[in-house]
This record gives sequence, structure tokens and C-alpha cells, in this order.
Amino acid sequence: MALDPAALRADLISAGFTIDSALDRMGEQGQDGLLRNSTVPADRVLGGATDALAALIRLFILQQAVPAEHVDGVLDVNAMRDAGYLASDDGKVTALIDIRPYGSADDGATGWIAADPTPGLDTQMSPTRPDYVLGVSPASTTLAQITMRRTVGSALDLGTGCGVQSLHLSRHARHVVATDVNRRALDLARLTCRLGEADVDLRHGSLYEPVAGERFDLIVSNPPFVMSPPGEASARLTYRETNFVGDSLVETLIRGSADHLTPGGSLQLLTNWAVLDEPWADRLAAWVPDDCDAWVVERERLDPYSYIEMWLTDAGLGGTPQWRPAYDAWLDYFEGLGIRSIGMGWVLITRAGRPEPYRRFESWPHAVAQPVGDVFARHAGAVDAATQPTADLLAARPRLVDVDQETIGRPGAEDPEHIVFRQRTGLMRAIKADTAVSATLGALDGELTVGQVLAAVAQVLDIEPAELAAGVLPEIRLALENQMLRLDDVAS
Ligand SMILES: C[S@@+](CC[C@H](N)C(=O)[O-])C[C@H]1O[C@@H](n2cnc3c(N)ncnc32)[C@H](O)[C@@H]1O
Repeated sequence: MALDPAALRADLISAGFTIDSALDRMGEQGQDGLLRNSTVPADRVLGGATDALAALIRLFILQQAVPAEHVDGVLDVNAMRDAGYLASDDGKVTALIDIRPYGSADDGATGWIAADPTPGLDTQMSPTRPDYVLGVSPASTTLAQITMRRTVGSALDLGTGCGVQSLHLSRHARHVVATDVNRRALDLARLTCRLGEADVDLRHGSLYEPVAGERFDLIVSNPPFVMSPPGEASARLTYRETNFVGDSLVETLIRGSADHLTPGGSLQLLTNWAVLDEPWADRLAAWVPDDCDAWVVERERLDPYSYIEMWLTDAGLGGTPQWRPAYDAWLDYFEGLGIRSIGMGWVLITRAGRPEPYRRFESWPHAVAQPVGDVFARHAGAVDAATQPTADLLAARPRLVDVDQETIGRPGAEDPEHIVFRQRTGLMRAIKADTAVSATLGALDGELTVGQVLAAVAQVLDIEPAELAAGVLPEIRLALENQMLRLDDVAS
């Protein structure tokens, strides 16, 4: 009999296989162990328990062979075996896929994620199948956390994998399309979506091909960005690499975005790019469509050695004879392409249609207060505020939001050496302010206009108003762009 996802969902709920109960049952040490890929702590915490919840934790999360009598009546084992999700042998049942409860404290998305079993549990290494479907990775979580969560009509989850982004998107997009080249990923994403009661339109195909001629208010992707040397298609790990050269897949996604975004719509990527001899920002800026704004935040920069070692380890080649030849081939490939280092970060492309497109490319490797989706949601409005004509800016009433003022100087000194305004939220940016900037920012409370505050500060500091404005207005514009000053509170 075919597997009924609604019945499976009901079984998982009645077994108590939900995020809170499962985490609680494994305890902190069990959870920490799993973060290290060790199942032993959770196994010890479960002790000899054979109840439904313990059986499902053992079966799916710890990947243990569970006596059939412990899962009979908990799951429809026959239907799940026919679907290829379970195997049974010699009175024991094993999971061929991973189904685990999911819950995000950031936006409240909950459900179950269906993916392939975690590789390398308890140091057991086995070759990764090329059509392997990755579960929720740190990169998935970061993309979910930077995604703007405002209500939209349509969203595209490009390269859906296990379907986790769709689970989030379906909460705030009326229509969600999810695509993947890997049919196995689409099968598992379908299961994730059905279990989470998310209505998602799943389509097979590469990049924008399955959505030719369609436009979306929001496109999100954590694409297969790993820049590995060309090899046999059959050996390629679809979840992380493609046959695109270098970072040309990312280039294709960015260049093609304008044809798939509605006016005002945005593409958000969590990705890698190659850094050659030319400035990285110039290279990426050339990919941005003319009528689009771009904001790219480089969060990390890796040298080729660290990058290659990380991905060779991810592929399970650590300690194998293939390590060194694969390493050399990869270095040769990077040398041939002129890749000096690899940037990793966040890309926002918005079809803003400004006469003068906004472009910002920056390195911001510092701590941020995740989730920062609201920062991205407010960004277009922040740019509008920061770039308004001076007369409008003088009449505006912005206010400082979630900002601390730090004064640094010698004890007892008359004036502080530095005044720093530091955000407590979002990207946690800081502005170093002189007395005039600090007096102006400090007085902007949403009640007074910028013009009124400048007039008052000019009088107190005994400076020509025009001179004060010339020095302070650029800082006010920057504070608006960085969302330290806000004109409204509308985020999502
Ligand atoms: C890094 S995984 C991301 C999965 C999921 N979106 C997440 O956030 O965890 C990249 C996904 O892109 C898919 N993919 C690979 N090549 C693709 C292509 N040419 N077009 C669309 N998707 C592709 C892979 O199968 C994989 O599911």
C-alpha cells in the first residue's frame, strides 16, 4: 500500500516524535553528542527504553537497527518499506532515510525533515552517494535566518534539497515553487512538505529552467556552490557541486535574477565566489542586472588550501589514498582559473528599478545577531531613506533604534577620545562619532526633524548650520542605510 504522508504525520505526532519531546528525551548531552556526530551519549541517555519515542529516536536519529516489535504499531512499516524508507531484516528494522523533527525558534517553522541519513556518525565513514540529499546544515540555517520573512505572493526555493527552506517560505508566501535537479531530493522534499502540511509546487530541473517565464517576489537559494574540478558526472556530489566552471553557477543565478523577479522582488543567496587578482567586488558587480540593487556581505574569506581541505573532508576522503591526488588536482584547477582565495557570504539582489542602482559590496566578518532577515526586509526602505533629497531628509523624523553609545577616553579627561554608536541587533554595526555627529544622532528621537536637531546642535556647539550639515548629513545617511536610524518600524 502506498505511503500516506498524512497518516505518517499522525503516527509521528502520536509517538511524541516532535522537536521539543525528542530534544528533551535525548537531553543536553545527547544533543551535544549528535552535534559531534556521536550517538553514544544519546544512546546512554535513552538507556533500555523501548517506548515509541525512544524507538523513533533510535531508528532515525541514531540510525540503529531497532527490533521490529518496537516499531510495529508505531509506524506503518510495510508502507514505509514499500516506499523505500525502511528496510527490515532478521526481525530488525533500519531506516534508509532520516526523518527528524524540525523547529525554528526564529520564525516558528515546525515539521519534520526528510533527508538522507547523516554520514560519518560515530566515525563510520562510507562513500557519499552522488544523489545524496543533505539534511539541515549550518548553511541551511543561516540562509533561513537571513531570509526576509515579509508576506509575499510567490517565492522560489531554488535547489530545495530536503525542502527546509520551503517549510519556512510556505508560512509567508502564498505560492511556493521548489526546484531541484536531483529527483531524489524532490521526493524527500515532497515528504518534508507533506509532513509539515506545506503546500509547495515541486519541479525538476536546473537553475531557472523549471520556472522559465515566471517571476517571484522572493527567490532563496543555498546553491551547490562548491568550486570543484571537473570530474565524472557520476562521481559528482549533486548537493554541493555542478559541472559549472568556477563560480559561474552563482554568476548565472545573479545574471538571470532580473528575468525572474517581480518589480521590488529579491533574490537571496548564501554562497561562495572566487577571488581572482581583480577586486572581488568589481567582478561580482559586473554580474548584477542593470535595474537591480545589490548588497553583498562577505562573511568569510578562505585560502585555497583551507577551502579544499574542508570539502575533501566533507566528501569523506580524509585518510584515504585519494586525498593527495584529489588535493593536487583541485589546486591545479584553482591555479588554472587564477583563483587566489574564496569569498563566502550573503547576496541580496533586488529588482528595485532605481535610476541609479544601489550597490554595496563589503566584508563584514564580525558577529551578527541572528536572525537578520528583518535587516534584509528593511533594506530597500533604508536605502530609500538614506538616498532621499536633502530637503526631504531635513524634514524627516528618524529615531535611533537598538543602539548603545560607548564613550572611550582616559579617566578624568575633559572630552572622550571616541564616541561609538553600536547596534545591539541586526548586523551589530558601529559608527565612530565626533561631538557633532554624536549630539545629532543622540537627539534624533522620532519626534524632532533632522533640520530642527541640526539647528539646535549648531547653536549649542556654536558652528555655522551649513558647515554642521555638510559634516553630519553624510553620517545621518549612513546611519539610515545601516538601520541605526529608522524612519519606521515596518520589517516583515
Ligand atoms: C547545498 S544544497 C541546499 C539544500 C537546501 N535548499 C538547504 O538550504 O539546505 C543544494 C541543492 O541544490 C541542488 N542542485 C544541484 N545542482 C542544481 C542545479 N543545477 N539546479 C537546481 N538545483 C541544483 C542539489 O541537488 C541540492 O539539493
